[in-house]
Order: sequence, then C-alpha cells, then structure tokens
Amino acid sequence: MTLVSACHQNDASTETSRVAGGDPERGRLLTQQYQCAACHFIPNVQGANGDAGPSLEHMGRLSYIAGGIPNQPENMIRFLQNPPAVKPGTLMPALGISDEEARHMAAYMYTLR
Ligand code: HEC
Repeated sequence: MTLVSACHQNDASTETSRVAGGDPERGRLLTQQYQCAACHFIPNVQGANGDAGPSLEHMGRLSYIAGGIPNQPENMIRFLQNPPAVKPGTLMPALGISDEEARHMAAYMYTLR
C-alpha cells in the first residue's frame, strides 16, 4: 500500500490521511447502515449502543484491535471485513462489507479518540 501523501499541512484532520482513500463521514454513515451499534457504543452513530462488543469511543488511539492485532489501517480494514479470518474464534461476525466500505469505516474509527 501507499502510506503517506506528500502534503502534511493542507488540512487539519490528520485522521483522514491515516486511511488512504477513506472518507470518515461516509464511514460514519456506513457504520450506521450496518448497524454496528447493535453491538457497540459508537460516538455519533445511532443504534442500540449494545454491549455485546467493546465501546469504540477511543478506537483511534488504542494500540491493538481486538486485544492483539496492531491497530494499523490495513489491519483495521481486514478486521472489519472478516473478523474471524484475522482473529479466529472472535465473536464479531463478518457482515459482508466491501473493501471500499471497510476503508471508509476504518477512516471513521480513527477519528474516535
Ligand atoms: C454481533 C455483534 C457485533 C456486530 C454487529 C459488530 N461487532 Fe464489532 N465487535 C464485536 C465483538 C464481540 C468484538 C470483540 C472482538 C474480540 O475481541 O475478539 C468486536 C470488536 C470490534 C472492534 C475492535 C474493538 C477493540 O476494542 O479492539 C472494532 C473496531 C469493531 N468491532 C468494529 C465494528 C464495526 C465497524 C461494525 C459494523 C460494521 C461492527 N463492529 C459490528 C461484536 C460486533
């Protein structure tokens, strides 16, 4: 993957650039559509704020995803698309998310600090 764009100073939202091609606002809406909040508390996403999964309110500054996967954009994208493939036995199901959708949702996850 290509990691960094050359320009660091053209916008204030460094989170945006953490996921190449990811749009946090689209990610927020997708997170709502996929009803991720049925199992998670997620800031600014409507839903049941369920507690089957951990709160995602600080997901952007955690070191690990699901306790052991380094919290980096490509890992986040893979995890969101197919959690059991990344962490066998995890209770988070695969929800049929496309690569592009996962990219946007990952971008949103990194705004949660
Ligand atoms: C059926 C309940 C359920 C749904 C629906 C669900 N998750 Fe999860 N999610 C979990 C569980 C349980 C975990 C904990 C996984 C583990 O540690 O093995 C988890 C973990 C995560 C993590 C890592 C959290 C951490 O603290 O490391 C992220 C990020 C995440 N989910 C995002 C999402 C997104 C985005 C969606 C919607 C596309 C979603 N989840 C839908 C149950 C769910």
